[in-house]
Amino acid sequence: MTQRTFSIIKPDATKRNLTGKINAVIEDAGLRIVAQRRIHMTPAQAGRFYAVHKERPFYGELVETMTSAPVVVQVLEGDNAVARYREVMGATNPEQAAEGTIRKLFALNVGENSVHGSDSLENAAIEIAQFFSEADIVG
Ligand code: CMP
Repeated sequence: MTQRTFSIIKPDATKRNLTGKINAVIEDAGLRIVAQRRIHMTPAQAGRFYAVHKERPFYGELVETMTSAPVVVQVLEGDNAVARYREVMGATNPEQAAEGTIRKLFALNVGENSVHGSDSLENAAIEIAQFFSEADIVG
C-alpha cells in the first residue's frame, strides 16, 4: 500500500552537511521525497512536535537539540513508507542500529541520531500537517 511518512533530517546531520548523503539512502531504499523544506525550528515548534515526550527526562535537551541548527523536514512516499523508513533509519540508539541504516552510518548518539521518522500512519498524517499543506506535496 502506498503511504506517506514524515521525516526530519536533524541538526547534527545538517551541521555536518549530510543532507544529500541521507537523501541518497532514502532514495536507494525506494522512497520518494515528495516534499522537502529546510527550516530553523523555533522552541514552540519543537515543543509542540515532541509534546508526547513532555514528561520524559530528556525533553528539554530534545527541544534544545532540535532548535540548535536548521533541520530538513520531508514527506516521503512509497510502498509501506512508514515501516520502510523506520527500517532504513535503524534503531533510535545508533549503538543498536543495523548495518547500512542511516543511524548506523551517520548518528552520533541517541539524542543526535540524525533523523526522525513517524512511528505510525496516524502520526505521519499529524506530523506532515504540522509542516506542510497538501499543495506543498507533489507526488
Ligand atoms: P525521535 O525519533 O526524533 O523521537 C524522539 C527523540 O528523542 C528520539 O528520536 C531521540 O533522538 C530522542 N531520545 C530518545 N531517548 C533519548 C535519551 N535517552 N536521551 C536523549 N534523547 C533521547
